[in-house]
Amino acid sequence: MSRFLGQHILSVNQFDLDAITQIFNVADTMQVYTRREKRTTVLDGAILGNLFFEPSTRTRVSFGTAFNLLGGEVRETVGVSNSALAKGESLYDTARVLSGYSDVIAMRHPDAGSVEEFSKGSRVPCINGGDGPNEHPTQALLDLYTIKKELAFHQRDINGLHIAMVGDLKFGRTVHSLAKLLCLFKDIRFTFIAPTELGMPDYILDTITNAGHQFNIQDSLDGQFDADICYQTRVQEERFPSKEEANKYRGKFRLNQAIYTQHFKSKTVIMHPLPRDSRADANELDNDLNQNPNLAIFRQTDNGVLVRMALFALALGVENKVKDYERAV
Ligand code: CP
Repeated sequence: MSRFLGQHILSVNQFDLDAITQIFNVADTMQVYTRREKRTTVLDGAILGNLFFEPSTRTRVSFGTAFNLLGGEVRETVGVSNSALAKGESLYDTARVLSGYSDVIAMRHPDAGSVEEFSKGSRVPCINGGDGPNEHPTQALLDLYTIKKELAFHQRDINGLHIAMVGDLKFGRTVHSLAKLLCLFKDIRFTFIAPTELGMPDYILDTITNAGHQFNIQDSLDGQFDADICYQTRVQEERFPSKEEANKYRGKFRLNQAIYTQHFKSKTVIMHPLPRDSRADANELDNDLNQNPNLAIFRQTDNGVLVRMALFALALGVENKVKDYERAV
């Protein structure tokens, strides 16, 4: 029986190496369905409550796609103004009600800790799709899954990895979750490149130190980086007190082909959780990198469906039945 059966997935703190291996093994088996080589109806009749109280493209749609590819149906609520939260209903009550209509719930909300609070009222598993600046555990899993695959291409594994994280490391929840997950491995080196005001929070630095890993902090992209991964991020404008405040930092850490060639190894894999801010005054990941074979951003988004299919299968206890419900394409 899976340790995830009936469990909420709220934080990467829940995972150890065995859990990650289990999720990734199940994710590998989902490729035949995302490639439409086969079809399964293992979740026929099941309903995903997909609640997004903050903007999202990838996470919301890939949760829905993952559930549909397992044969289930998706009911969406998008935006606080379209829900009774706008009338003052508590997260607890909303969870209590919607968990009567769903077999599993995925949720994004602007407040740190909100998904955990919601889960206390839920009678079905809840998956955190991002709670404010706090965590984004499924993004961290898909990022780690991508890193594993990209390194395997170069006959490497994750132990001994050097990762550079660049940009808004204060408000970027994906880098918080990913850094914590990487601490489970051996001899990880982190280079954090961010304006001093947007540096990695101390509690993450403490986690890294306590796990016996090394980190360097820089406030500019000056120098040569022998990083295996360059993980670029967007300035999280929506978490600043004002747009003007965020604008002080937008465009500070641009990456384009020339900058990449100057500062990184020819094999450095370029990642970004997306969305990338492509407006001219930000442009943290230039379109001139689109043909660079080391740009992994769209492999990340594809991997998101595999990892989310695995999480649904494990949380609902069908990971060993998926093949039994295969149908002709
Ligand atoms: N990476 C990510 O969370 O993207 P969305 O905001 O589009 O879901």
